[in-house]
Amino acid sequence: MDKKPLAVANWKMQLSHKAALQTAKALDQQLKKIELASDVVLAASYPSLPELGKGLKDSPIELAAQHVHWEEKGAVTGFVAANQVDEFVDWCLVGHSETRASLNLSEEQVASSMAVLLQHKITPIVCVGEALEERQAGQTVQKITNQVNVLFNKLDKVSIKKVAIAYEPIWAISTNAPAELPDPAEVASTMLLVRKLAVAAFGAQSAESLRVLYGGSVSPETIDSYVSEPGVNGVLVGGASLHPGKFVDIIKSLQSHAS
Ligand code: PGA
Repeated sequence: MDKKPLAVANWKMQLSHKAALQTAKALDQQLKKIELASDVVLAASYPSLPELGKGLKDSPIELAAQHVHWEEKGAVTGFVAANQVDEFVDWCLVGHSETRASLNLSEEQVASSMAVLLQHKITPIVCVGEALEERQAGQTVQKITNQVNVLFNKLDKVSIKKVAIAYEPIWAISTNAPAELPDPAEVASTMLLVRKLAVAAFGAQSAESLRVLYGGSVSPETIDSYVSEPGVNGVLVGGASLHPGKFVDIIKSLQSHAS
């Protein structure tokens, strides 16, 4: 596959503004020591984005927001619109399971946030994934198919090329204390499902550009088993991405498996 691997650090709400600036600087320094052959994206909290942008002006690290509202603008207290971050970011997470749960987002709202971002030339990284109960009930395929099809209803042959989809089983996120980690072959087959749905909706040529990522307890210890499966174009990393050394090790492993 000729897509550059994509490594996304999701810092969630874990770092103070000061700590975010320091950690980003440390990450940048460590990345400069390796031969970087991946796109590296850092999803930080809104208030830190402008200053991070200045500090990372000469860095390969690109910035992402973690969520935007699904409406263009309006009387919506406490939220942030795509047109308020488009000066600062090239990417944005959409529909992370934690955001979906906190805001009780519908699939339609998630898809609308994605569409608003595309209008502002920000690349959406849309998260999909099943909850533990859904997995146990054998509903993973049905859940992912539904989530992806709602997204695809708002896309076409051109816009699909500007989207990344992260398959992140909700139960596998490190802070959800997974009893076991997802079986890499199972992960690969769900990711293949996403790709097949894209091919069915937009044709093979357009679907080829779509990057499908894996997320959920990715660490230097677990990454190899996932990226050695076919069809994994990148990773979405939470906890381990707060440690520049670990995140760089993850990137190195990702690159070594890219073909
Ligand atoms: P984790 O988080 O890597 O700590 O499991 C991933 C995520 O929630 O995006």
